[in-house]
Amino acid sequence: MTALTWTEAAPGVWRATIGNSQALTPLSLIGAEPKLEALGQMAKAAPPFEWEEVRIEESASGRRTLALPLAANEKLYGTGLQFMRMNQRGRTRYLRVNSDPKQDTGETHAPVPFYVSDRGYGVLIDTARAVTMHLGSAVRLDAMSKEDAKDRNRDASWRATLPSSRAEIRLPEEGADIYVFCGPALRDAVSRYNLFCGGGALPPKWGLGFWHRVPTLFSEKEALAEAMEFRRRDYPCDVIGLEPGWHSRSYPVTYEWDEERFPAPERFVRELADNGFRVNLWEHPYVSPESELYRALKPLSGDYAVWGGLAPDYALPEARELYAQQHKEKHVAIGVSGYKLDECDGSELTNNSWMFPEHASFPSGLDGEQMRQLYGLMFQKMTSDLYRADNQRTYGLVRASNAAASSLPYVLYSDLYDHKQFIRALCNSSFSGLLWSPEVRRARSAEDWVRRMQTVCFSPLAMLNAWGDGTKPWSFPEVEPIIRRYIKLRMRLQPYLYTAFASYREKGIPPFQAMPFVVTPEEINRAEEQRMEAEKLNTTDGAYGKRTIPQWDDQYMIGDSLLVAPLVEGESEREVLLPSGSWIGFETGEQYKGGGVIRVRAELATIPIFVRDGAVIPMMASLPHALRPGEQAPLEFVHFGSEAGSCLLYDDDGVSLDHEKGACGWWKADVTKTEDGGFQGALSGETELPDSYSGVMWRFATMGLGLHDE
Ligand code: GAL
Repeated sequence: MTALTWTEAAPGVWRATIGNSQALTPLSLIGAEPKLEALGQMAKAAPPFEWEEVRIEESASGRRTLALPLAANEKLYGTGLQFMRMNQRGRTRYLRVNSDPKQDTGETHAPVPFYVSDRGYGVLIDTARAVTMHLGSAVRLDAMSKEDAKDRNRDASWRATLPSSRAEIRLPEEGADIYVFCGPALRDAVSRYNLFCGGGALPPKWGLGFWHRVPTLFSEKEALAEAMEFRRRDYPCDVIGLEPGWHSRSYPVTYEWDEERFPAPERFVRELADNGFRVNLWEHPYVSPESELYRALKPLSGDYAVWGGLAPDYALPEARELYAQQHKEKHVAIGVSGYKLDECDGSELTNNSWMFPEHASFPSGLDGEQMRQLYGLMFQKMTSDLYRADNQRTYGLVRASNAAASSLPYVLYSDLYDHKQFIRALCNSSFSGLLWSPEVRRARSAEDWVRRMQTVCFSPLAMLNAWGDGTKPWSFPEVEPIIRRYIKLRMRLQPYLYTAFASYREKGIPPFQAMPFVVTPEEINRAEEQRMEAEKLNTTDGAYGKRTIPQWDDQYMIGDSLLVAPLVEGESEREVLLPSGSWIGFETGEQYKGGGVIRVRAELATIPIFVRDGAVIPMMASLPHALRPGEQAPLEFVHFGSEAGSCLLYDDDGVSLDHEKGACGWWKADVTKTEDGGFQGALSGETELPDSYSGVMWRFATMGLGLHDE
């Protein structure tokens, strides 16, 4: 057993080094400055255990394990983009990057060796290695008594996983820095993590509009025609995404425009821009022998090919420079707004195995394991730096990530397609400084289509990815009005969404939050019991000791005031855990008492959304695309219910990084009661009105927006 020396790396963030600190880790790669001022303003807190209880233990072979105490009912969340469960307590997590997270092992596109506890602290291992975390799943022999070994043949209380009072983390051989993030609550521990990683990402305004990816072999003419179809049919859209067909060759790729399909890329991008569209380009890391970059990158690449192409070593500045120069000239300079960074995760599916092996060697000295764990981060960093150099913001998609990603303007996605898993991933990403898009691709029925579209409109990136299916928002004519209404509702919520992201950036508070951010552990436990009872779940399969405990992993908050509880195909009602207080159906106006579980019905035309009584939601008219610099729209504060209330509103130019130098502002809208029992509103801030808005309207005591309110 080795003693650990803890130092306070930032307010409420404690670090200990085990073995040797490594030069290249997620934190060092991203290199974001911790937001010390915001961290310093948080309440002081200590972890709920004694520092002496955190131990390093060595196995006979010399391999080190970090052990932390766990309380009996403690729940653990996080470990990255997990699809299969929310509470990770009792599970072993193999945190290795992989594009096919079909089993509940911990492997996923974005495994993050960071977990948070409902007792209000978080633990991070900052390493380029794949980490194994036993989150209360490893039981030491000396902690057992004879009675713990039960007879499965006769005893229904037999369990597959015996309770363990420790989290045990197998540390990388060479060593690592470990961090403890203090609370006091779970929400504070996550905010501290995000602030320590530089604060959350603030997308450009257009990033929060609607995105559409066109079929892979579309030409510029077809892509333009499809974009204009959005305008003709009155569907808002901000971003057109191009898929592999824009490259002259793909799998491996060239990063060069295909001259047949895209004879005039500059004109194409300009024409889209003139009509209020941005262009996002799909790419992946593996460089084709036909690419102009190939020859220069070859000596700077790993010793294994992927699809016959190079896997460049972007730990090397020369390699980064080649990539950046080419991307700058061919894409950024002609107005391309960002990228979809695909395939940087690798796969081991049967019949579909592709990736350099763990034992691959890269010229910088990294091996294949480290490169695969870091590849997604490297591309996010290189591309966001490209835009940074041009004082522009970007917002894009990525299929692999890791720790320290909070400040990166990228949203994860997957080839998986289970709607419930997609909602769970949205919840889970909030614990780990990640953003996730439950993208829509196709549907089995109009009902499936509507339910998926409703979910995606209330997510960090609302996208139809029609690369392979050629679907459009109007693909199911019988439900067109519903789809249009929700895309428009997202547009109307832009001021609210944008402000939620600004809090992510400045205070580290995730814009989308799973329920443990806003309800206490006791409330969650009570609600779980209520739900088991309500759904009459058979929670114990005596013969095998499998227990299914329902989790609140199918509903989430957007900002402080909106709670979204999606339905999936086949459902028209569901249970919802409402935090304490009074709530109102955002569209329906129905009233609910919070502090427990309610049951709601929702016709296909609606997704259950709840708003706090007294909430003030900043909204605007639904425009065909987000506000561009210099453009203005009227702002509307919609106040709900019968209580007085207030909200914050953030604004800046929406596209540049000038806000980092102070070119931004916060306003506060207060709704107070008047003597005659009515309401009045007042907006205060440095200026009378944010630049983006031409005037203010107030709507008081709203009991639901209604279904025809546009
Ligand atoms: C997949 C990706 C899809 C699509 C496709 C194009 O790997 O997840 O969204 O981009 O590649 O080949």
